[in-house]
Amino acid sequence: MRRATITGWGKYLPPNVMTNKDLEQIVDTTDEWIQKRTGIKQRRIADEDTATSDLALEASQEALKKANLDPKDLDLIIVSTVTPDMVFPATACIIQDKIGADNAAAFDLEAGCSGFVYGLSVGAQFIESGLYDNVLIIGAETLSKITDWDDRNTCVLFGDGAGAAVLQPTDKGGFLSFDLGSDGSGADALYMEAGGSLNPATLETVKNKKHFIRMEGNPVFKFAVKTMKNASLDVIKKADLTTDDIDLLIPHQANTRIIKSARRRLKLDEDEVYVNLPEVGNTSSASVAIAMAEAKEKGVIQNGDHVLLVAFGAGLTWAAGVLEWNENI
Ligand code: ACO
Repeated sequence: MRRATITGWGKYLPPNVMTNKDLEQIVDTTDEWIQKRTGIKQRRIADEDTATSDLALEASQEALKKANLDPKDLDLIIVSTVTPDMVFPATACIIQDKIGADNAAAFDLEAGCSGFVYGLSVGAQFIESGLYDNVLIIGAETLSKITDWDDRNTCVLFGDGAGAAVLQPTDKGGFLSFDLGSDGSGADALYMEAGGSLNPATLETVKNKKHFIRMEGNPVFKFAVKTMKNASLDVIKKADLTTDDIDLLIPHQANTRIIKSARRRLKLDEDEVYVNLPEVGNTSSASVAIAMAEAKEKGVIQNGDHVLLVAFGAGLTWAAGVLEWNENI
């Protein structure tokens, strides 16, 4: 059976580190509160003149190198982001040009923090159908650009970064199953109000700070705990596996309490879950992509391992995938 597998992976984090101590100088918060309630110690922040596509380019080049693939052989680029370079054209097209992927189709996909896993599932369909052979999936964000640095409820959570994965066909292993979902009734729990057709940018929207992330933390927290467990169990079942078969869980990195709850409910050991949240914060759709690339770099994932990816985010949305890792097609 023709399935999609990951043959290349890459990540990029901008060099500028912002610690919790730095945040203490900006808003009414403490390092102790942030660590205790979220697990985050620091995050990376992009320069003013760095766009999402700049971070994505670095991660993509690394992923293509790992896959030993020429950019001209790419058939499709999908970028997941809530911080595109511009409303249009798609950031995927900007990257397609920057990377020299002359033969690739390109489009953006927006599913909040679930976006990278959504992107993998879309890319996998193109591969399984036989339409394309080489697909690049990118999760990239410069959340610092839409963060209200006066809002302690949100500004302590987010960071910038990018991750990328090359999908290619295999007849052994690869993605065994996906589970996607959404609950639009929770749209008002996590959003950026202005800049779209409902509230186009005006002097008023800028004055009223409507171009920033707004979040109701508690409902998102409850949604996350519930969906991380349910989506994981569903996708494991669809793959004809049990939780005992999972070698590594790579969850969306939003809050260590959410990750811990998912780990316990799935009865996984601590070393079966990859966590880099303390160092990078919540990088939205880049989060699972960065964690996966890091886990590979550190030798945590071996060929043949069953890897579970699971994320939740604005929408509200969720997405999970089970992959039998096979990078040698
Ligand atoms: N520093 C100090 N105190 C704070 C801070 C802060 N940064 N933020 C909130 N507080 C205070 C609140 O004002 C409140 O004080 P009060 O009791 O006097 O009113 C108290 O801390 C508790 O606030 P809660 O909101 O109840 O804190 P909670 O323990 O729920 O943690 C958090 C908040 C971390 C946001 C949590 O709800 C959470 O992680 N939610 C999920 C968020 C998430 O994952 N979002 C990303 C989704 S993905 C995407 O698409 C981007």
